[in-house]
Amino acid sequence: MKNERKVLRNKSILLGITGGVSAYKSIDLIRRLREEGALVTVIMTEAAKHFVTPLSLEVASQNKVFSDLYADTMAHISLPAGADIMVVAPATANTIGKFAHGIADNLLSLSFLSFKGKVVMAPAMNWRMYENPVFRKNLDTLLNLGVIQVGPEKGSLACGEEGIGRMAEVPDIIEATKGALTINDLADENILVTAGPTREYLDPVRFLSNRSSGKMGYALARAALRRGAQVTLISGPSSLPQPKGVKFIPVDAAGDMHSAVNRELVSSTILIMSAAVSDFMPAEKSGEKIDKTGKLFLKLTATPDILSAVAKKKNRPFIVGFAAETGRKLEKARKKLKHKNMDLIVFNDVTEAGSGFDVETNKVVLIDKKKESELPLLNKDDVADAILDRIVELRA
Ligand SMILES: Cc1cc2nc3c(=O)[nH]c(=O)nc-3n(C[C@H](O)[C@H](O)[C@H](O)COP(=O)(O)O)c2cc1C
Repeated sequence: MKNERKVLRNKSILLGITGGVSAYKSIDLIRRLREEGALVTVIMTEAAKHFVTPLSLEVASQNKVFSDLYADTMAHISLPAGADIMVVAPATANTIGKFAHGIADNLLSLSFLSFKGKVVMAPAMNWRMYENPVFRKNLDTLLNLGVIQVGPEKGSLACGEEGIGRMAEVPDIIEATKGALTINDLADENILVTAGPTREYLDPVRFLSNRSSGKMGYALARAALRRGAQVTLISGPSSLPQPKGVKFIPVDAAGDMHSAVNRELVSSTILIMSAAVSDFMPAEKSGEKIDKTGKLFLKLTATPDILSAVAKKKNRPFIVGFAAETGRKLEKARKKLKHKNMDLIVFNDVTEAGSGFDVETNKVVLIDKKKESELPLLNKDDVADAILDRIVELRA
C-alpha cells in the first residue's frame, strides 16, 4: 500500500522557496508532500539558488522548477491558476515584506498577487530580524489578510545564536497545509482524545503495560484539529511527537488517565477513548525495587473503567470507544457499545495483517446504534478521518 493520505492526494501545491538557510529543508518537504500524493511545482527566488540548487528541486519534485519571470511569460498567471494551495517555505523577511506591500518584481511575488487561494507561509530568519517592528508589521498585514503562518520555532539558529526564527519542522508545515485544505466541520466541538498505553507499576522500576504506540489516537487528535476542533490529548507514554496546537496532557497509569479525563471532561463535547488502558494493575505496589528471590506471584486487580464511569454521568459528552480484539469478535463489540452506553465503537482485530498495534495502518468496523460500516485497510490518518466523518453524521 502506498503511503498516500486523502487530504493531499492529487492536490496541486505551488511551493515558493526563498533565500534563507533553511531552503535545503524544502527537498524533504517536497519528498513528503509527494509521498502523500500531492503534485508539487516549485517557484524559487534568485536568492534561494545560493542555498539549494534548481536541479535538486527538479529531481525531488519530478517537475520543472520555475524562477525566471521572463523565461515563461505566462507562468505568473498559469501556475497560481492551476494550484490548490500556495506554500512558501522558507519565507524570508524580504519576500514577506514584498508580499505585504504588493511588490511584484519576481515570479514568486507576482504569483502571490495573482493567486486566489489559501497561502501557508513558514517564516525563517535570525531572531533579531523576526522581532524587528518593521518585519512584524509586514507579517501582521499578511496574517490579517488570511495568510496562514506556521512556525517559526525557538532553538539554535544557523548563525549560531539561540532564539526564535527556526523554520517550522516539515511535518508541521504539512499539517498546516492539510489544515488549510480541510473543511472546518468540527469547529464547534471540544474533543477529548485519550491515546497510548498505560503503565501499572509493581515497584518504582517495573510495570505492566501493552503494545499500544498511540498512533491511532494521535492521528485522531491531528485530524480533529485540522477540521477546526479544540483538541485535548491525554496520552500514556508514547514516542510520537506531540501534535502542535493541542492541549497535551501526559499521564502514566490508568488512575492518572482517569483523573485527567474527569478534569477535562467538563468542557468536552466529544470523548474519544482510543487509549489502550490496562485492564489490570498490581494489587499492591512496592515502594522499593522488589528483590530477585526465586518465584514472584503477582496479585492483580481491575483498573478503573474510565469509559463506563463517564457514560453514567448526567451531562456526558458524545462517547466513542474502541474494541481491540484478537479475532473477529464483532458481537462482543456490539455488546460493549450497548453495555457501556457508548455512541460509537471502533472495532479492530489486532491479529489481522496491517491492523492494530504500532503499524501505520488499521482495518476497522464502525458500529453505532444505527449502522455498521466495515472500512478497508487504510492509513491511520484516513481511519481517523472516517471515524470523525461518522461522528459528524451522527451529531448532525
Ligand atoms: C548566509 C545568508 C543567510 C540568510 N538567511 C536568511 C534567512 O534565513 N532568512 C531571511 O529572511 N533572510 C536571509 N538572508 C537574506 C536573504 O537571502 C536576502 O534578504 C535576499 O534578498 C532574500 O531574497 P528573496 O526573498 O527574494 O529570496 C540570508 C542571507 C545570507 C547571506
